[in-house]
Amino acid sequence: MPLLAIETTCDETAAAVITRDRAVLSSVVASQDELHARWRGVVPEVASRAHVERIIPVIDEALSIAGIGRSDVEAVAVAVTPGLVGSLLIGLSAAKGIAATLGIPIIGYDHIAAHLYACRLAHGEKMKYPCIGLVASGGHTSLFYLRSPLEMERLGGTIDDAVGEAFDKAASLLGLGYPGGPHIERVARGGNPKAHRLPRPLANDQDRIDFSFSGLKTALRYLVRPPGGPENVPPPVGQQRADLAASFQQAAIDSILAKVELALIRTGCGSLAIGGGVSANTLLRESIKRLGQARGVAVFVPPPSLCTDNAAMGGIAWERLERGEDDGLDLDVVPGTDRSIRRK
Ligand code: KG4
Ligand code: ZN
Repeated sequence: MPLLAIETTCDETAAAVITRDRAVLSSVVASQDELHARWRGVVPEVASRAHVERIIPVIDEALSIAGIGRSDVEAVAVAVTPGLVGSLLIGLSAAKGIAATLGIPIIGYDHIAAHLYACRLAHGEKMKYPCIGLVASGGHTSLFYLRSPLEMERLGGTIDDAVGEAFDKAASLLGLGYPGGPHIERVARGGNPKAHRLPRPLANDQDRIDFSFSGLKTALRYLVRPPGGPENVPPPVGQQRADLAASFQQAAIDSILAKVELALIRTGCGSLAIGGGVSANTLLRESIKRLGQARGVAVFVPPPSLCTDNAAMGGIAWERLERGEDDGLDLDVVPGTDRSIRRK
């Protein structure tokens, strides 16, 4: 019998049904993008309220697409960390309600580990451990050494903004919509990535596997609105905008690649997986694959639908269910502060 997974860490309400052999029978994601677009960032209270309205219909839709009823569910999994506390609690409450009424196990899983597990779902046993894992999203930019799906050692991460957050801010500066990543990617297609030389902070520092994106964000801001000049200049358009988007995208991806390569060199690891919303970016996906080929490293990239937040990656809970584990109804959330301080 399959597993029902629930995901409400940030601004996506999601549910999925995954079988024991890791087949995804359904994966439903209700995006709240339209609710947060006018703020160009996630408003925690708005997110929590939207989760309350959407969680039950989303679960019912996931069960219906999978062709099963609630009583056919063998266990329930829910992302409990990291995330916005109000958002996490809605998913946890729904999961506990189902586990309590059906008398089935409940497993709390880590959203970050789950982002990387998306590669396991997509590539099955071909994905080998140990492996280097890059999580690049709106809330996180971190590198891990994974001994197995559940054993991760953090090698480093951003010291300021997450890369997705930088994409969102760049899009806002260029007068594009939210979330910014897909807009930057689209506009950058017509631009010259060498038009502007934007900074790649820490990229040449061989001593640390860390990232920094706030300087890149500021550099773009100064190109769009030079310091000391008027604040209310209209956003750039046409070729100028395309060149700025392409130069920004190239700088962000170069910064990531430099540290992925450093992590591969330091660990000597022969396997690399990526996950999180920014890993839907074509330039990142292609650059990572080229890096893997050049270094003789096997690269695992999830399909775009498994990159951005979804509940199918909650299939990671099978790794614990197979060991007979059950977190029980005392399960609680462990909110991370990094998402709740997400800047606009
Ligand atoms: O993983 P995700 O859905 O949510 C978090 O865990 O944060 O990631 C969302 C982030 C947003 O910042 C969005 O702009 C970025 O992923 N993103 C992209 C692309 N698609 C989504 N960034 C660059 N290129 C894309 N194609
Ligand atoms: Zn995420």
